[in-house]
Amino acid sequence: MGMHVHVADHPLISHKLSLLRDQSTPSPVFRALTSELVTLLAYEATRHIRVEDREIVTPVTTMTGKKLAKPRPVVVPILRAGLGMLEGMVQLLPSAEVGFLGMVRNEETLQPSVYAERLPENLADRQCFILDPMLATGGSLLQAINFVFDKGATEVTAVCLLAAPEGLAAIEKATQGRDVSIVLGALDEKLNDRGFIVPGLGDAGDRLYGTVGQFTET
Ligand code: PRP
Repeated sequence: MGMHVHVADHPLISHKLSLLRDQSTPSPVFRALTSELVTLLAYEATRHIRVEDREIVTPVTTMTGKKLAKPRPVVVPILRAGLGMLEGMVQLLPSAEVGFLGMVRNEETLQPSVYAERLPENLADRQCFILDPMLATGGSLLQAINFVFDKGATEVTAVCLLAAPEGLAAIEKATQGRDVSIVLGALDEKLNDRGFIVPGLGDAGDRLYGTVGQFTET
């Protein structure tokens, strides 16, 4: 069982991602674009979500329809930046349960550490969707994937807006034999020596929640 990577190939996604990358895009627009991109990526990320049969009655006849299977899927945004992807995802999956993981990457060592954790106790048989806009060295996502596997999950899909090839390779190597899928808006060129994705979009957490660039009150 290998890691499955899907890179979105869609003109609307490229269009919105280009606006997101643009350094002059202010936080409110950045947040709106992130949300729209998640909705588009969620379509692909949920391609293998489990459903079961359900008898329904249409105005014309009865038929066997589908409904999402139990237990409910779990969505895990990685704070801070992953929070910007939560609303778009749960709009598409309103019955999902949401667990939270707070992680921060040390800017010198690039090592991630966990500062908050609130996940359902037992993830056995739950389909888990991890949200984080950036997959750079892959350290944060790998730690998040290991967290949910340690709680019994067997199937994890990560949704990221951008990734660097180095980070993808690191995750692939470290999760061999496990069921891991990664859905990406784009696969960028490389990491720079500060562990930033190139060309990238800068620091997604700062751009979503506020400390970068000019901000004009509206
Ligand atoms: C950023 C980003 C990812 C992580 C990616 O978070 O949102 O979580 O770094 O880097 P990695 O693949 O090398 O681990 P950051 O630590 O800046 O925290 P924030 O989301 O609170 O801004």
